[in-house]
Amino acid sequence: MTTAIRVRALANLALVKYFGKRDARLNLPAGPSLSLTLEPLETVSELSLDASLDADEVWLADAPASPSFTERVTKLLDIVRQAAGDGRRARLKTRNSFPTAAGLASSASGMAALALAACKAYGLELSSDELSALARRGSGSAARSVCGGIVAWYEGVEEDGRDSIARTLLEPGQWDLRVVVGLAASGPKEIGSTVAMERTRTTSPYYGAWLRAVHQDFEDALAAVGNKDFTALGEIAERSALSMHAAALAARPGIAFWNAATVSALHLCRSLRKSGVEAYFTCDAGPQPKFLVRPEHQPQACQALRELPGIEGVIECHLGKGALLLP
Ligand code: ADP
Ligand code: DP6
Repeated sequence: MTTAIRVRALANLALVKYFGKRDARLNLPAGPSLSLTLEPLETVSELSLDASLDADEVWLADAPASPSFTERVTKLLDIVRQAAGDGRRARLKTRNSFPTAAGLASSASGMAALALAACKAYGLELSSDELSALARRGSGSAARSVCGGIVAWYEGVEEDGRDSIARTLLEPGQWDLRVVVGLAASGPKEIGSTVAMERTRTTSPYYGAWLRAVHQDFEDALAAVGNKDFTALGEIAERSALSMHAAALAARPGIAFWNAATVSALHLCRSLRKSGVEAYFTCDAGPQPKFLVRPEHQPQACQALRELPGIEGVIECHLGKGALLLP
């Protein structure tokens, strides 16, 4: 058995959402997206190769992972094994510091961590662009978690996806943005993002309009980041999330990720804004509301969200680094 490679990667929160693929096998997005890599939403993974194993062995938080979880890990490892010409199976021990499969992007941190660990373990030397493209194969949003800070994921035009990669726009220290995550339910969501976005793409009459909006939102968000214009970025983030959920709600059958606490949180966010706490609402493929705030407004936003009925807890986040090896 080889010595274990230890890595850490953070989840990310899209301000301009990725929701629809142009190629499902390669996880190529139909549009660009823009995200924040968030401390302290972390995955820590340990990977070792073991020639005596017949199949990959995967542990999530000290318990054997489900067959579907393990299968997704094996799919990414197979890509690395083929590229490295090394068929040895692996043992993965991984842990997320936040609820798994609940709309907090565990697939992003988990697959970014796995991609980095696998490259090191199998001896593949990849550039950061290539690592982002590899992580993307595990989960689209994982392409972004390879990078730290404020991140853009370009859709790319190449058929093989080599230019569909994410890059840092601003490092964590360059703009202090904060996110307050509300836990509106900790169990796994009813429908995964992969299935939800494919159903939306194939059945929602609003999908075309959503996609057109994404391209404009991305251009506007790049400008907002360039100018460090918090208000502009917040408005784009809120409208991108609402448009994504509108497209999903219109799918057939409709996909409703929100629960009552999510809806209350949207209204709370708007009333905070009226009272001078400049918070913007966003939400992913799950019920957890997230507020984008300036550092000085974080305590008030946090307290208000914590006190909202149906919110079981909050996680205070700030910008963090991309995936990295641990000693
Ligand atoms: P989320 O909203 O948390 O991203 P998804 O349903 O989109 O939920 O993704 C959950 C899937 O991501 C899991 O079933 C598993 O395949 C993968 N995943 C989650 N955590 C990890 C991890 N630590 N290591 C590897 N893969 C992970
Ligand atoms: C709503 O990256 O989880 O969080 O590529 O199928 O693994 P797959 O989907 P995933 O989808 C993320 C969707 C989202 C929006 C976003 O993060 O951009």
